[in-house]
Amino acid sequence: MSEPLLLTDIGQLVTCTGTPGAGEASLAISVATSVLIQEGLIAGIGHDDSAVKAALAAGVNTLSMDDQVLMPGFVDSHSHIVFGGDRVAEFKARMSGAPYLAGGIGNTVSATREATTQALATNAGALREEMLASGSTTVEIKSGYGLTVEHEKRILEVAQGITDQTTFLGAHLVPGEHANDPERYVEEVCGPMLEACAPYARFIDVFLEAGAFDARQARRVLQAGLAHGLIPTLHASQLGPGEGAKIALEVGAASLSHGNHLTTSDIQLLRGSGVVVTALPGTDFSTAGAYLDVRPLHDAGITVSLASNCNPGSSFSSSLSFMIALAVREMKMSPADAVWSATAGGAAALRLIDRGQIRVGARADLIQLQAPDYAYVAYRPGVDVVRRVFLNGDMVVEKARDVR
Ligand code: NIG
Repeated sequence: MSEPLLLTDIGQLVTCTGTPGAGEASLAISVATSVLIQEGLIAGIGHDDSAVKAALAAGVNTLSMDDQVLMPGFVDSHSHIVFGGDRVAEFKARMSGAPYLAGGIGNTVSATREATTQALATNAGALREEMLASGSTTVEIKSGYGLTVEHEKRILEVAQGITDQTTFLGAHLVPGEHANDPERYVEEVCGPMLEACAPYARFIDVFLEAGAFDARQARRVLQAGLAHGLIPTLHASQLGPGEGAKIALEVGAASLSHGNHLTTSDIQLLRGSGVVVTALPGTDFSTAGAYLDVRPLHDAGITVSLASNCNPGSSFSSSLSFMIALAVREMKMSPADAVWSATAGGAAALRLIDRGQIRVGARADLIQLQAPDYAYVAYRPGVDVVRRVFLNGDMVVEKARDVR
């Protein structure tokens, strides 16, 4: 464990400890302050804090933040980064008007099955490094491109080498070899596949959508996961309306991802339920789909998280800064709400209480922006404004930059 470190000259400390959906108040900002890191955790905040004063008196190491922003690292609560091949041809076709179809997942399944475990690990590891460099200190990874007992387990083993936030998504698509008997495949997912994969996963997920799994199958999969101690989560209402909100409530899901076609009555159902809606603007960008309008969700008091959904088919970007910029421009989110959703919101979607906010006792997963204001993340779209990244208190990324 590294020595205590005092981060000084913080121009804007964005703690994300306020109420979600409350605009800038949700960020609970303070200015001209300092943060003490000790044993991987935040140990004190502010010049008047007794731990900070004691550390200064003891001659603690200091690092100036050059009057820039310090904020929590991004918590990316939805990704599929263990895969083989790419789907750039599908992207090009979509940009010429072709629709996004769930069945495209099958192309990545074939390429993933063909890839060696080493190749999968190398590719996923490189994407994880890319995510960390762009400020994502926590990343969730789903399986779902194997769709056999052996291949789903292999994907989760690779994922577990990268993160402890792993999700079993055997019910991503009915694979070609089971096309004539989808029920048999659901049986396999809920039986031997779940048995083999549950030890490597924290969550269970299902793609509830036309062309993937129906409501009855989704219920069955999520209930089976619950019986194995996994936390349910869903992909739902992405391409059309459905029973996702209802099922999320029934099984006590942590989150529902996509939600583009949630209806007014779905939103009423979700109100007060604790289910987080995970908005995935990179998907709407990359599939040329209609963006989710988050205002009715905020109005209903529903917690919204923002994630990359990094995958080769529907969203091949790992950048939460890009997602924030898109959400601000296209999903009617304020810059403050978008930053909250990509940090504290992501932690809520993963049911993690030790990160996503800057407060005493939380993990020291932090990012320093090359900027005087948090809104630069959206104000400078396409520009990397993340200057330093701290993970468990250790500085793991530092980019050489001139300080303006
Ligand atoms: O979240 N919607 C389902 N799963 C992924 C898509 C993966 C793919 O197209 O390969 C998603 O968008």
